[in-house]
Amino acid sequence: MDISKRAKQIQESPIRKLATYANETKKRGIQIYHLNIGQPDIPTPEVFYNRVKDFSEKVLSYGPSDGLDELKQAMVDYFLKYNIALNKNDIIITTGGSEAVSFAFNVIADPEDEVIIPEPFYTNYNGYSSISNLKIVPITTDPENGYHLPDISEFEKKITKKTKAIMICSPNNPTGTVLYEREIRELGKLVKKHNLFLIADEVYKEFTYDGEKHFSILQLQGLEDHAIVVDSISKRYSACGARIGAIISKNREVMKAILKFAQARLCPPTLEQIGAIGAYRLPLNYFKAITDEYQKRRDILVEILTSNKEIILKKPNGAFYIMTKLPIDDSDKFARWMLEDFEIDNETVMVAPGAGFYSTPGKGTQEIRIAYVLETKKLERAGNILLKAIEKYNSLNP
Ligand SMILES: Cc1ncc(COP(=O)(O)O)c(C=O)c1O
Repeated sequence: MDISKRAKQIQESPIRKLATYANETKKRGIQIYHLNIGQPDIPTPEVFYNRVKDFSEKVLSYGPSDGLDELKQAMVDYFLKYNIALNKNDIIITTGGSEAVSFAFNVIADPEDEVIIPEPFYTNYNGYSSISNLKIVPITTDPENGYHLPDISEFEKKITKKTKAIMICSPNNPTGTVLYEREIRELGKLVKKHNLFLIADEVYKEFTYDGEKHFSILQLQGLEDHAIVVDSISKRYSACGARIGAIISKNREVMKAILKFAQARLCPPTLEQIGAIGAYRLPLNYFKAITDEYQKRRDILVEILTSNKEIILKKPNGAFYIMTKLPIDDSDKFARWMLEDFEIDNETVMVAPGAGFYSTPGKGTQEIRIAYVLETKKLERAGNILLKAIEKYNSLNP
């Protein structure tokens, strides 16, 4: 018996693959500052839990495949606060944004079809492309340019008969880059010209800094048939374990087809949807203190890291990630070395090596992704440990 080619090819998550080493490190009594995973430490809103506690049905039954009507209404109301007018039937609730990515890939592409994605990109797109057997065609962005998009002609060059979509993520994981409205408008024109879908992962929508505003593809007039949005409450309401997301599109054929995928997995989690209704009903100023906190953390980290002039880092203004190019030979080796052979006063740092966020072989080998999901004191300490680790690592590997 043999397992499938797909099973052999699917990549291990670069975010989680160092976990075995980390467990050993902890067993040795060393404390790890986890900068490797985007698990926010912001408390989940109380209203989420209160709603769940108030649930009084005797049977926890299946819900509708497209999600609870009341949650969809709460989302419609929430989007309206951003001047984005949706109908409930433009939304299908998913089991996390992850399932929305999977539905999007499955609904637009047949095996071997292509989706153009700027790299570095959220690493699980690789996993979902393997599951759907579609090909990610990367467009490499540059740390020196703050990972903004190259000229639109670079995208056009990559379009083939097999291209079905361009996919973006803004604010971006792993780079923290918030795409300019101009960049999104240009992509909008391009997908219209070539009759492609434009998929936008907007799960970090609220997290923008320095007065930067997120521009949604749902704001692009005339793009209604092309636009598919991946959404989630995981980061927005610090509710990663709830597994509630959504796929949003005004394209009726797309939504009808997605509903069939949704029916095949019956329904998203009921209790968590009930909690999410409460979260979505929070006023937008709920995000103010949270974005202030993330901005403060980003500033601290950027200040520490840029004190080493060899580190390439343009201050990103979104999400809660920094992707940075370090003066080291290999970030995979470096990240593992920090866990296995390095500590300062019984403490070390865990980061996500950059290569797993690229699909072009050999790219990202000097980059790491840092998630600033620790409170400022810990973050300061972690940043300084990281600087010292770079120094020590290079002195051992001249
Ligand atoms: C860009 C992006 N999209 C989608 C997801 C998936 O989120 P979830 O499945 O938790 O909603 C994540 C999670 O880290 C992410 O960073």
